[in-house]
Amino acid sequence: MKIFLDTANLEQIKEAVSWGIIDGVTTNPTLCSREKQDFNDLIQSICEKVPGPVSVECVETQAPEIVNEAKKHCQIAENVVVKIPICVEGLKATKELFSEGIHVNTTLVFSPPQALLAAKAGSRYVSPFVGRLDDISSDGLALVEQIIPIFNNFAFETEVIVASIRHPMHVVEAAMMGADIATLPFGSLEKLVKHPLTDKGIERFLDDWEKVKQSMGKKPS
Ligand code: G3P
Repeated sequence: MKIFLDTANLEQIKEAVSWGIIDGVTTNPTLCSREKQDFNDLIQSICEKVPGPVSVECVETQAPEIVNEAKKHCQIAENVVVKIPICVEGLKATKELFSEGIHVNTTLVFSPPQALLAAKAGSRYVSPFVGRLDDISSDGLALVEQIIPIFNNFAFETEVIVASIRHPMHVVEAAMMGADIATLPFGSLEKLVKHPLTDKGIERFLDDWEKVKQSMGKKPS
């Protein structure tokens, strides 16, 4: 499964990329608003740091304007993927952009038919928001479980980005379902690495290694 970082923070991106396990980044207007930096400069800096696709959201609401905005985003860097919320105008724009070879990530997906229509329009990625569904007492991962066989049934090449991830079990379940990608905030990524027994085990090995060092060079009595 590919792992994307869901942030526009350059420090977090630099750190996570250095771990060697980041395949891409997803941003949105909310994440960009936290960075207090010129938008184009920010996206350019992100794209230079990331060895893979960087999703950049369109905020226009009519298809022709969405298409223009998407093309402007794509001029920033080669690895830009345009993020477009699922809606009728978004589908029209996606179809047009697909015909021009521009990769689209259809975002704010909350139902299987939305994902199906996005795939039919030519989206490269769909982003079901699992956490936001869980937040309203719905089952976010059940949506992913429905989308994957739908795409498999018809051999859509559209990849599923499990988004709005809140905790490690979202990632585990998504991986077990065979989701192509999970995009997660830096805090959730850190949690994937940690296990208390690993920390305890490392501590004990380091303590015991001190004893080994002390006995080095000593002859057996
Ligand atoms: O990038 C889109 C998505 O992951 C946002 O997550 O936490 O705002 O629901 P969240």
